[in-house]
Amino acid sequence: MVKKIAVFTSGGDAPGMNACIRAIVRAGLVHGFEMYGIRDGYRGLLEDNIFKMDRHSVSEIINRGGTILGTARLPEFRDIEVQKKGVEILQKHGIDALVGIGGDGTYMGLAALSRLGINTIGIPGTIDNDISSSDFTIGFDTALNTIVECVDRLRDTSSSHQRCSIIEVMGNRCGDLAAYAGVACGAEMVITNETEFSKESVIEFLKLQREKGKNHAIIIISEKVCDVYELAHEIMYKCGYETRAEILGHMQRGGTPSAFDRVLASRLGHYSIELLKQGVSSSCVGLIHNELTCHSITDALAMPRNSSQQFVKISADLE
Ligand code: F6P
Repeated sequence: MVKKIAVFTSGGDAPGMNACIRAIVRAGLVHGFEMYGIRDGYRGLLEDNIFKMDRHSVSEIINRGGTILGTARLPEFRDIEVQKKGVEILQKHGIDALVGIGGDGTYMGLAALSRLGINTIGIPGTIDNDISSSDFTIGFDTALNTIVECVDRLRDTSSSHQRCSIIEVMGNRCGDLAAYAGVACGAEMVITNETEFSKESVIEFLKLQREKGKNHAIIIISEKVCDVYELAHEIMYKCGYETRAEILGHMQRGGTPSAFDRVLASRLGHYSIELLKQGVSSSCVGLIHNELTCHSITDALAMPRNSSQQFVKISADLE
């Protein structure tokens, strides 16, 4: 029977992580567990950066972006000896269960720890929306709204100057941020890692657009597809279209979480404690068709990613 639970955040921070930490700590206390926090993800675990939490530890954080626990990326945690050291530290504190909020790297670490005897629950927290066992990850909605606000602003100046604006968004090879933003912003073109892409076809498309009388264009492109500054340069050079490229970068990860992310985070955090109470472990929670779901972490990691191409198509049909 689980008695002491620790919570941590890992990988890229995402708006709504704090609301989730709050839900885990408060639900845990209500159910009679002793609650702990681990600072700075797996790195903090190895540094024994663990502290006890009470309900006041999570006051006034539901509306704050980032993560009060801090986060880190630690590729070394793939090493079994490093994982065993993490288990020793948890055992020293008598911690028998871990709730980790993060993306697939976080899930892999949790799966490894559960093979070594720790009860684990994973919660999808990343702006990328690239965890297939949930329709939405914590932080995606807020990041999407930030992108939409930025693109709306760029549209004002782009249309005034009759320019083409290329906007690169995050996603770590998942096209959801770009594809949803494309629909929400009425983009002329969306390019993701799944889209067949050639600079020539983009240039041909823009030439046609201009012939049809369109005098400005918005192109939303996922990161890691191409060098957007070079693409802008080629468009200018080959079709005489004044073009600017913007990389939105880390501003997409910050900011006050949306109501959707706060509610999602609170539901998933609360559910993770209910599952631990029922003796469930080595699992991850999610939301599918607005129902809370629970999958084994290994199954979740093996699930094929949902394609964002349907959104790319809607965006193309409506441009
Ligand atoms: O996983 C979230 C994410 O923001 C990705 O979209 C992006 O590729 C990556 O993190 C950036 O990582 P870092 O903050 O370590 O540069």
